Formats: sequence, structure tokens, C-alpha cells
Amino acid sequence: MTDAPLLAVQGLSRRFGGLVALDDLTFAIRQGELVSLIGPNGAGKTTAFNLIAGFLAPTSGRVVYAGRDLTGMAPHRRARLGLVRTFQQAAVFGDQTAVDCVVAGSHVRAEAGIQAGFFGTPGARRDEASRYEAALEVLRLCGLDSRATSRASDLPYGEQKVLGIAIALASRPRLLMLDEPTAGLNAVESESVSAILDRINEQGVTVFVVEHDMRVVMGLSDRVIVLDHGQVIADDTPDRVRADDAVIRAYLGDFDIA
Ligand SMILES: Nc1ncnc2c1ncn2[C@@H]1O[C@H](COP(=O)(O)OP(=O)(O)OP(=O)(O)O)[C@@H](O)[C@H]1O
Ligand SMILES: [Mg+2]
Repeated sequence: MTDAPLLAVQGLSRRFGGLVALDDLTFAIRQGELVSLIGPNGAGKTTAFNLIAGFLAPTSGRVVYAGRDLTGMAPHRRARLGLVRTFQQAAVFGDQTAVDCVVAGSHVRAEAGIQAGFFGTPGARRDEASRYEAALEVLRLCGLDSRATSRASDLPYGEQKVLGIAIALASRPRLLMLDEPTAGLNAVESESVSAILDRINEQGVTVFVVEHDMRVVMGLSDRVIVLDHGQVIADDTPDRVRADDAVIRAYLGDFDIA
């Protein structure tokens, strides 16, 4: 194995009409890292996630994942390769129980995995019983095991957000991208999501997270990438980013993060 990054974003740009939402974005994420993407509202964070996960096409530039140029590849094919994202809004679950939602999430990787992933063995054919067992294990990891047979739509908002993470996790991601997993949560719930992300990362999953909660960002991240007006203005350790003048001017000036 070389030192090639798991994800390389190279000169990525996206326009919406006359608006340049992302301007020549370049950064890389190594296998095993936990990286946060921060920046003011409208900086382009969600757009960057959409381009990386394949929900939007770039105006120019490319996304290389596990050594593969993903240009033109549909989101579900990227997910099958282990590049999985969650959305800024909580998911809608219908009538399913929590554990059934997680089982459904595991089907994203219905085909034999190309790598030994989360709770999985390479090439293994997993029947529904073992999917159910694995789903319970994912719920346990996320602290939701006591809710397994609750109807997902009956769960309080905070637990629905965590369930969204569990569903994504069930697909055995190699790179898990989360867009504002603590949005709308109180301090206790945010702390618990932060601990879950830490645990997921400890299991070997590379984590890339858009986050506004600076306590979560600074406590959790190996590295922080800061976007402003569609450009990377900092890419460094939490401590250095916290002290960066350009970052403070663009963003952190609004927060009390002492
Ligand atoms: N589909 C779209 N069509 C037109 N403009 C868009 C579209 N999506 C995003 N934009 C614009 O692109 C810019 C970046 O938006 P984006 O949603 O990526 O920001 P963000 O950093 O995720 O912000 P927030 O912190 O509010 O979630 C904004 O000016 C936004 O209005
Ligand atoms: Mg956003």
C-alpha cells in the first residue's frame, strides 16, 4: 500500500448560474482520519458533500476515492464502494421499526463487499438473520439498542438523527460523511453523537463531518478544513485552526470557544 489518501478532492468547482458555490477546492483525507468541514452558512459545505457523494456534478475538477476517479458515478454506486453520506435533515422512516430501518440500510451493500467492512466479511453472503444481528450490533454501538423494536417515526428527534447514522453505518462505509449530525440537538444529545462518531472512527471508519458545534469539532477532529465563500481558507489541526486569523475573521469570531 502506498500513502495515497482515501479521498482526494482536486480542483473541484461548482456554479449555480452566476453564483460560484465552490471555487477550486482541493484537499485530501487519509484512511482512518476524522476530519471536520466548517464554515459560515452558505460557504459551500453541503455542496461539497453533494459533489463528493455524487448528488451533484462538478462544473470542473474531480473526486478520487480509493484511487478511483468517481466522475459521473451515481451515488448508489459510490455507496457500494463504501462512500456513504447522511443528510442535513433527519430521514423519514415510514412505519418501520428502528432495527428494520437499519437492516434496510445494510442492503445498500447487497453485493459481496470488495473489502472487509464494518461487521462484515469479504464476499460473505449474509442472510436476513445475520443482517438482523448486525443491525442490533449497530444499534448498540449507537446507544439505540433499547429502541430496536420501537417505530422509528415515534422516536424523539435526537434519536431519529442517531438512527440516521445507524442506517448509514449498516451499509459498512469506509468513508462516512455526515452533514450536521448534531443540528437541532441539545448539548447532551450533541455530546452523545460526538461520542458515537468517535466510536465509529475507532472501528476504522474514516469520518468526514460538516459541523457547526465547535465543542464537537474541536474535541473530535484530527483535522479541520474551513470553507469560506467556496474556498478552503484553512486545513490544519483544531488548535491551529482555532488560532488562525483568517478563520477567526470569517467564522470563529461568532463563537465563544475559549
Ligand atoms: N441547488 C442550488 N441552486 C442554487 N444555488 C444553490 C444550490 N445549492 C446551494 N446553492 C447556493 O450555494 C451556496 C452554498 O450553499 P451550501 O448549501 O453548500 O452551503 P453550506 O455551507 O452547506 O451552508 P449551511 O451552513 O447553511 O448548511 C449558497 O449560496 C447557496 O445558496
Ligand atoms: Mg449545509
